Amino acid sequence: MNTILGANEVNIGECLAETATYLAPRLGISPEIGIILGSGLGLLAEAVEGAVRIPYGDIPHFPHPTVAGHAGNLVAGLLAGQPVLVWQGRFHYYEGHGLEQVTYPVRVMQKLGVRRLVVTNAAGAVNPLFQPGETMIITDHLNLMGHNPLRGPNLEELGPRFPDLAAAYDPRLRELARQAAAEFGLAVREGIYAALPGPSYETPAEIRMLQRLGADAVGMSTVPEVIVARHGGQRVLGLSCITNQAAGVAGHAVSHAEVVEVASRASRDLARLIKGVLAAV
Ligand code: HPA
Repeated sequence: MNTILGANEVNIGECLAETATYLAPRLGISPEIGIILGSGLGLLAEAVEGAVRIPYGDIPHFPHPTVAGHAGNLVAGLLAGQPVLVWQGRFHYYEGHGLEQVTYPVRVMQKLGVRRLVVTNAAGAVNPLFQPGETMIITDHLNLMGHNPLRGPNLEELGPRFPDLAAAYDPRLRELARQAAAEFGLAVREGIYAALPGPSYETPAEIRMLQRLGADAVGMSTVPEVIVARHGGQRVLGLSCITNQAAGVAGHAVSHAEVVEVASRASRDLARLIKGVLAAV
């Protein structure tokens, strides 16, 4: 199976066309909302009705996820009555993928007509008030990955050269998330997500730096996908599952096992929240 070769104009356009041509007749729906599930947050995919499951390995031009806790399936069907594409597992920059590969599913969704995107992740709490198990509605981000997925020649048919990110996280979708949380009695936070490249967790000094920069949570994903989503004109809802207090905040070590464990426990709440938003959208 080919993988995408880079931001080369001809290749990315051709790859997208081939991927969309493969997927469209297999989905059984005309998808309107995309949902990317982060580490340990795969549960929502099981709630999809009339689910069609396509392993990433079967999809032309798809990279292969390498992290435990990421199943690597596209699930298409209905969720709260909405035609959705649920991506169970994402591609991370720290795996060695280029950002055009990390964001390839977002481009595929745009090609398939998806206008709204829900991105989820597991994140460490930089804000000392935030507790493991809580959900944070992302209000804004800090791109500290050192790279931007739009670097390179701009493909005008995908979006503008200099896209605006002033309201990257859609105010209306955030409001619907707050309402759904209130309805289900779920405690939610709101805050700023800082993306670092990883894969090492941060040092306590780096977390103090992030606190001074105004971050509330830290993780290793989401931001490239959101930039590409906005480039293509999609509306975005970002949700972080706070899985741990970041380095130095509570004084104990951060472990991937803890991150996945807490995310799995919190994934029921997150699934309810997303279904609530979808029912109201
Ligand atoms: N740091 C970075 N990424 C993370 C963390 C963290 O503490 N927890 C979950 N993802």
